[in-house]
Amino acid sequence: MKIKKAIFPVGGLGTRFLPATKSMPKEMLPIVDKPLIQYAVEEAANAGIDQFIFVTSRGKSAIENHFDHSFELENNLLSKGKRQTLKTAQEMLKIPGSFAYVRQQEPAGLGHAVWCARHLIGDEPVAIMLADDLIYGGNTIKEMIANYNSGNMLAVMDVDKKDVSSYGVISPGNLIDNNITEILGLVEKPSTENAPSNMAVVGRYIIEPAVFDVLEQQNRGASNEIQLTDAIASRIGSSNCMGYKFSEERFDCGSKLGFIQANIRFSIERPEMKQNLKSWLEREIVSKN
Ligand code: G1P
Repeated sequence: MKIKKAIFPVGGLGTRFLPATKSMPKEMLPIVDKPLIQYAVEEAANAGIDQFIFVTSRGKSAIENHFDHSFELENNLLSKGKRQTLKTAQEMLKIPGSFAYVRQQEPAGLGHAVWCARHLIGDEPVAIMLADDLIYGGNTIKEMIANYNSGNMLAVMDVDKKDVSSYGVISPGNLIDNNITEILGLVEKPSTENAPSNMAVVGRYIIEPAVFDVLEQQNRGASNEIQLTDAIASRIGSSNCMGYKFSEERFDCGSKLGFIQANIRFSIERPEMKQNLKSWLEREIVSKN
């Protein structure tokens, strides 16, 4: 089945990255030289998605500007003949009308953010991409779409038992094949004792239109927020709910540690940085600590 649209919830306050995110969207934090949100958009585009719907909030206009022309910059680079740099400054542009923005007026949770985009989604399944979850390789949503038939599909991975309370956690059922597990239940941010497993949801989803109807009526759940997890959970039994056990490396760029790790991983793969970074890490970090 072809999925044409992806929702990018980018309305969050980014409090874990203060003071950096006081006046700058956390989704604009760079991994090496590219903002997190651009990686997520590229992953979606790589999967054939061509309509990108951002759920923004106050103070997020830098994201809109990023996916637009910057005439002064582009003219300047053009006049100086800096063609390669110009290409880099334009690589995120898409054909007009590809990006849509809708405001989430209050930070009422991920489910609420997704619901804010309801009028932009027809009677069709849609992808949801959380830019905080950075996937090295950028094929996960593509693989999910290739394996999707109907209902809801969530990217899942094993995490340490002590970390389950940061995630939506699934109760796994039958293995459909090596990569796909049936989901029998779903809990948002359970305590370690109450977690049904240590298999956590990562920010890649394909949801069916019925989830929007559930979100319409959804009560607040964990953290007193309207949770996407709860809405998807309430569809179990009425439609398929599958976990996709992706194999690519994922970085939790909503945490400082994950963000630094992602920067190191992505830098070390850059030919122009690789050797110097490796020797510096070995010399200054590994041997001195
Ligand atoms: C959100 C979801 C959670 C999921 C997580 C993945 O939580 O609510 O179910 O496991 O993303 O990153 P958040 O990180 O926004 O608190």
